[in-house]
Amino acid sequence: MTASPTTVSAEQTAHPLDPLSPEEIARAVAVLRAGPAGAESFRFVSVTLVEPSKEALRGDHSEVARTAVAVLIDRAANASYEADVDLRTGTVDRWTTLPHGTQPPIMLDEFDEVERTCKADPRVVETLARRGLTDLDLVCVEPWSAGYYGVDDQGRRLMRALVYTRLTADDNPYAHPAENLVIVYDLNAGEVVEIEDHGVVEVPRATGNYLPQDVGPARTDLKPLEIVQPEGPSFTVDGHHVRWANWSFRIGFTAREGLVLHQVHYRDGDEDRSVLHRASLTEMVVPYGDPSPVQSRKNAFDAGEYNIGALANSLVLGCDCLGEIRYFDGVANDSHGNPVVIRNAVCMHEEDDSIAWKHYDFRKDSAEVRRSRRLLISFIATVANYEYGFYWHLYLDGTIEFLVKATGILSTAGQPAGERSRYGQTLNGDGLFAPIHQHIFNMRLDFDLDGAENAVYEVDTIVPEENPTGSCFYTVDRLLEREQDAIRRADAAKHRFWKVVNHRRRNAVGEPVAYRIVPTDAITLAAAPDAHVSRRAAFATNTLWVTAFDPRERFPAGEYPNQSRGGDGLPAWTAANREITDRDLVVWYTFGMHHVVRLEDWPVMPRQHVGFTLQPFGFFDRNPILDLPRTVPRGRSDTSGDGCCHGPE
Ligand code: CO
Repeated sequence: MTASPTTVSAEQTAHPLDPLSPEEIARAVAVLRAGPAGAESFRFVSVTLVEPSKEALRGDHSEVARTAVAVLIDRAANASYEADVDLRTGTVDRWTTLPHGTQPPIMLDEFDEVERTCKADPRVVETLARRGLTDLDLVCVEPWSAGYYGVDDQGRRLMRALVYTRLTADDNPYAHPAENLVIVYDLNAGEVVEIEDHGVVEVPRATGNYLPQDVGPARTDLKPLEIVQPEGPSFTVDGHHVRWANWSFRIGFTAREGLVLHQVHYRDGDEDRSVLHRASLTEMVVPYGDPSPVQSRKNAFDAGEYNIGALANSLVLGCDCLGEIRYFDGVANDSHGNPVVIRNAVCMHEEDDSIAWKHYDFRKDSAEVRRSRRLLISFIATVANYEYGFYWHLYLDGTIEFLVKATGILSTAGQPAGERSRYGQTLNGDGLFAPIHQHIFNMRLDFDLDGAENAVYEVDTIVPEENPTGSCFYTVDRLLEREQDAIRRADAAKHRFWKVVNHRRRNAVGEPVAYRIVPTDAITLAAAPDAHVSRRAAFATNTLWVTAFDPRERFPAGEYPNQSRGGDGLPAWTAANREITDRDLVVWYTFGMHHVVRLEDWPVMPRQHVGFTLQPFGFFDRNPILDLPRTVPRGRSDTSGDGCCHGPE
């Protein structure tokens, strides 16, 4: 229905949680340019909304200030800043110089600068020539975040650039890595700091292309598959507010996280019940298992180091999304502070989802079946070689699911032709391989389950020592009272899950109402505990963390993980060991994909997905979707008969 892009103008930003509009970003930047950030050497990493507190949201919305927070870099001073701008008064309310060496996320423009400047550096040109790479138009210089490996970076804003080449203009460069070569680049100084050449490995020549001209004629055996909703979709949209079935929520978007869900509520009878105050993907890390000088430095934090929201794709109807789609634009900014509207960054639509429930009464030869459907709210980001699709699924029965769909191209490595590295999958006989790695994600889930004051239990299934039949098992709940108690790993042998409860509200059998977290894909870091990446991505060493709510605690690896030495974020906050019982709390959930590379992942990876589920667990008093309408069998128009789908007639 609404296939055309929708722009939300400044006048429509009526709600205090609406993301900053392009006009608001432009205004914040103008205020800063006229004030402390007037010098040409300033770059704007991000300009985003200061989200109002829960208290403010409960009050009169016209009283809530619109405030922008900007993260800036002054290249000339090699320094970083944060600033708050009151958009109503046009004043800079806060100007903070960040501690020396704090490195805000990498800006998209910096990628281009690195490639351009590296190719113009005679030392780089000479190094490339030693590997036979003389046609610079075909060479790809790919900047990776510098990370931290125990060597003092002296406050420099660094990237580590890797090199690939194409054989022709349309060729896939990841088939041709120039192994053992790293160009260390200082973004603020705009210069090559060092070229690390760990020895020439012949660049693999075999191609890995996937365009129609490379793979031959497309198959012809698939008939059209249309998704039609003749009466339109079942959701209604008012600005950034969405209602669908019993659900309501607000759509947010930030440069750092991309899609954010705010104020996720479920209407239970006449009552609007709160489930989540705010939910988003807040960090991810992709560590590689190969110890070589180049591959062991691949440890990208794609959210915190690259601002994954700013890397969102503009989605295309019929390609990225199929059906009756409603799009939302994402708004970010470029490094000069110009607003950038990412058209159709967020896609929302309904999908049929098989059966919701069914029972066939064999005594009566009669079946009751109800169809399930789900609402998808998603965005897709491209981080150099990889694509990540982030999908929220809301189900009619109160279940919430989050999936990450990974596709795109493997990050490859070179080895001498004929060798087989134990640290990856050899992809061809020409020296190309793809190292083993992990993609570990962390979600910040600010539960407000029937109110802000919640608690968390761990639920294990145990086999008791006194076991008369040998076949006994039952569950035991353990309250996680303090932050240190709540640093937990999944345990498949105990069928472990966690539940968030509200002790003040009881269900029909007197238990506190609850949602459970079903820990699927609950992987943790494979790296040793004393590895640099384990300290920097401590969130990924455990499945569950729970913290007392603090609006300043937003990102699990800290506010600025780029080049961080570790210790920020969850490990620092939970050291206080605050009480988390019947408090406003935040759940941090870690999951991911342990990527043992397959041959089938090359040259472009068939979509894989990982995720987790939040499920009502005594939140309702019975199955909440008994009221779904009977489905009418295809070809029959009446709904008056008994059970809808009981065999041929
Ligand atoms: Co992977």
